Order: sequence, then structure tokens, then C-alpha cells
Amino acid sequence: MNIHTPPMPNDLEAYWMPFTPNRAFKKNPRMFVAAEGMYYTTDNGSKVMDGIAGLWCCNAGHKRPRIVKAVQQQVEQMDYCPAFQIGHSKAFELANRLTGLLPDNLNHAFFVNSGSESAETALKIAIAYHRCRGEGHRTRLIGREKGYHGVNFGGMAVGGMTANRKMFGSLVSGVDHLRHTHGIEANRFSKGQPEHGVEFADDLERLCELHDPSTIAAVIVEPVAASAGVIMPPKGYLERLREITKKHGILLIWDEVVTGFGRMGKPFATEYFGIEPDILCSAKAIANGVIPMGATFVQDHVYDAFMQGPEGAIELFHGYTYSANPMACAAALATLDTHEEEGLFTRGTELWSYWEDAVHSLKGLPHVVDIRNMGLIGAVELESIPGAVTKRATEAFLKAYEKGLLIRTTGDIIAFSPPLIIEKSHIDFMFETMRDVLKTID
Ligand SMILES: Cc1ncc(COP(=O)(O)O)c(C=O)c1O
Repeated sequence: MNIHTPPMPNDLEAYWMPFTPNRAFKKNPRMFVAAEGMYYTTDNGSKVMDGIAGLWCCNAGHKRPRIVKAVQQQVEQMDYCPAFQIGHSKAFELANRLTGLLPDNLNHAFFVNSGSESAETALKIAIAYHRCRGEGHRTRLIGREKGYHGVNFGGMAVGGMTANRKMFGSLVSGVDHLRHTHGIEANRFSKGQPEHGVEFADDLERLCELHDPSTIAAVIVEPVAASAGVIMPPKGYLERLREITKKHGILLIWDEVVTGFGRMGKPFATEYFGIEPDILCSAKAIANGVIPMGATFVQDHVYDAFMQGPEGAIELFHGYTYSANPMACAAALATLDTHEEEGLFTRGTELWSYWEDAVHSLKGLPHVVDIRNMGLIGAVELESIPGAVTKRATEAFLKAYEKGLLIRTTGDIIAFSPPLIIEKSHIDFMFETMRDVLKTID
């Protein structure tokens, strides 16, 4: 491969990097210059296997020909189209194709540009929906401890990751949180959904008693919580949450920013679990990470509540300059084609048991206190060093990188979420590398 390696910039100070220890990084930068298939190429020409699909977004792998071509063609044909009051055919085509992948009633897509915007949009729609129906007193939003719904104010407020919240004041008012289901002792080393913890869903009844259900607009959860370190829903938990929300007229929002687009061995987790939320957030892999994009899907009853009043009036005062950006739509349509042609939506089902065995083969290595897996998601939890949480996982991240494998860590949890084009030989490499790494960390 002929890759032009750009020179390392002299000054790394101007770029303030997100979710990165800037000073440490800039002393010892890691730079990628190219990507193809399962691999990145670094600026010194070495290959790094992508064990996390970029950031859980390049589900079809890198530099996929259909997607590259679709974006190239689109930029030549029409680079931008106003999002408000004007349409273009790819936006409608994409909405139809995406809703075709979802259960019966999730028939409407509102396009956004990221997971954070998708969550923000869902929360705003939920509150406005109740107002449209004459229940403007339902304004309270319920999230979950350890939840992650992006970094904007609404998503941050319903989210439950302390470090993401503590610096930013009092956030949004009227928010409360369900207890998380992480760390249930009896669930350690579960394969798939853990057996224990269904009763944690009843925490919603506690919050209904405290606030009265008539004040609650929506509950938002990730069906599988990714960013907090991969927390699988206990058996029966999601079903029970659906029952309780229905009983009290509370909208259920599923944040599928990570679980959408084949990660769970089905197009979306809603199909895998057989549960239909009222609103579903997606982003990341929707356009394979190539162009920023997201979509918030709503059921008919939610959409219909807005489609009232004078026909000439705007129904929802919300949207973004780049909603349904033509290049993002072109990338997303080509992503769907790639998934369909290559069977990527169900690849996680085919590889499930091989992946599961590989992830769990790390059991017994030093400091490993839990291992979890579902679809093409895996997590290894390390015992934290007292007073130095994150140290072990960070060391594992750096050592894996040196050995040519990109992983992701949160606290002392290591997460794996490879592109769905992964082959068994790649899985072998990933976990042989991790075995070597885990044997050598302090
Ligand atoms: C479940 C979930 N929601 C929202 C987001 C935020 O997405 P973005 O970084 O595209 O804003 C993420 C990102 O990891 C996520 O995992």
C-alpha cells in the first residue's frame, strides 16, 4: 500500500482533544494515517487491529468501497441541501429503509448528527409529546446510574457516569435515576444475559411512588450499557421496565447508539430482545463512522401526537443545520447496502459462541474479576489498584497498542467491539494478544 505519511506537526497544543488526557498524549502521541478493513496504519507504518470498530461506529470495517464511492459521488452531485423546508430524495429513502429494519410501530426517523444529539432529540420529543396530548405536567426524565447518553445537557443529566457530570453544575432539573445493575456478585463471568437482578427494574416503581407517575415523561436506558464498561441487562429486566412504563403512561426510550446496526447479531437490539421502545436513539454505525450522523426513531403514536393543528405550522421546533446531510445519507445508504450484501446484520449471531469462548478464555489471568459478552461485545473487568482506579486498564490499553491491537477502557474495564467483518483468525489474534498483555500488567 502506498501511503503518504504526513509529517508529525511541530505543535500539538492547539488541538484540545476530547476525552483524552491531553498532556500525557501530547508527550507520547499515537497517530493513525490510514485505515482499511480491520486495520489502522500508524504514522510509523505499523498495523493496529481495530478491536473497537473505531469508537463502536465502523461496524462494516474501514474504507469500504461502496461507502467511499457513494460519498464521492454525492459530494460531486450535491454537497449540501438545507435541512429546513427543503428535502432531498436520499433522506426519505434512508428513513424508509431504516424504519423497515425496525419493529412494526417505529415508523418515523428524525435525523441528527451524533449520539448525543439523538438522545437530546429523544428527550425533547418525549416532553413535547406529553404536552401535545394535554399532559404538560409530565416533564420529569428518568435515567439510570452508569448510563451514557452523550455529552449534551439533557443526555448528561439523565446519564449516570460521575466523571461526565460532576464538573458541569446542576445540569437539567427534574431528573432522577434508576439504580444500575453492575457488580451483582452472583452474575460474575456470565455468558450472555446474567441470571440475577430483574428486580432492579422495580426501582422505577420506587421513583413513581416518590414523584408520582403523572410527573414522569420518559425513562431512558441503553439496552446494553456500553460506555460505563459493558453492563448486560439481567434476564427479564428490560421486559419489566417495558411493563412498568406502559402501566404508568411513561415513554420508554432505548438508546441504541451502540447496540444498533448489527452489534447484537440483529439489526437492532429491539429485535434481539423482542421489546419495542416508544423512542429509539441511534448514531455511530448508521453511516459507518464515515460522516457524522444519527437518527431518533419514534413510534406512530408519538409522531401522530405532533401531526395536529394547522397544516402550515411547524410541528416540532427542533432540528440541526446538518440533519439528513446529503453526504451522511449517501454514506448511510451505502452502509446499509454493505451490511445487507455481506450479511453483517447477523454476523454477530454466527460468531457469537466463538467470540464468547474467546472472551471468556481470559478467565483466570491476573487481576481479572469479571468477563461479560453479548453479540460482538465483550468486556474484561480488572480489579482496581486501591487509590489508582484506571491504572491497570490504561496499562493494558498501552501494551495492547504496542502489540498491534486497539482496545477501549473505562475505569478498569476493557471493552471489545470489533468491526462485524471480523474473522475467527482476527478473534484469535485479539485474545492471544490480550492474554500476553494481561500476564504482564502490574
Ligand atoms: C449509548 C450512547 N449514547 C450516546 C452516545 C453519544 O454519542 P456521540 O459521541 O456520537 O455524541 C454514546 C457514545 O458512546 C453512546 O454509547
